[in-house]
Amino acid sequence: MLKPDAVGRRLCGKIIGRLEAKGLRLVGLKMQIVPNALAEKHYAEHKGKPFYPALVKFITSGPSIQMVWEGESAVAVVRRMNGVTNGVEAGVGTIRGDFGLSGRYNLVHASDSVETAEREIGMYFDGAELWAYDMPDMHWFTN
Ligand code: CMP
Repeated sequence: MLKPDAVGRRLCGKIIGRLEAKGLRLVGLKMQIVPNALAEKHYAEHKGKPFYPALVKFITSGPSIQMVWEGESAVAVVRRMNGVTNGVEAGVGTIRGDFGLSGRYNLVHASDSVETAEREIGMYFDGAELWAYDMPDMHWFTN
């Protein structure tokens, strides 16, 4: 997900460009202001933590972009590309490390496992909104 700060800071193109250049394949994309109930469902595991109310408020504060990316080890790869939660600590070369200085306004969210990805994709997409297609350059990205 490109969070409201990524949209508001005009960084969506740069971030999507990194994922494309890495060799991942975009299979679904939409923009919405996430409704409160959906944000609470998405972040249910953080309910009760001190940052939870601010997190839900931020995620629902403006348009965000939900995406599904496919590729070899996509979950692990995207998490490495995002960097650790706080932009101050995130490594140079990561999305958060290169573009952010905040823990709350950290530009992107990515699923932390394949199981979480399946759950989160189901929250944001219908099957008919996901696209299977071939890319002519895919042989360059496989062993
Ligand atoms: P995300 O990958 O979307 O998953 C949970 C989010 O909670 C995380 O990114 C941060 O935006 C937010 N978060 C986690 N820890 C903190 C914290 N200590 N303070 C503020 N926000 C946090």
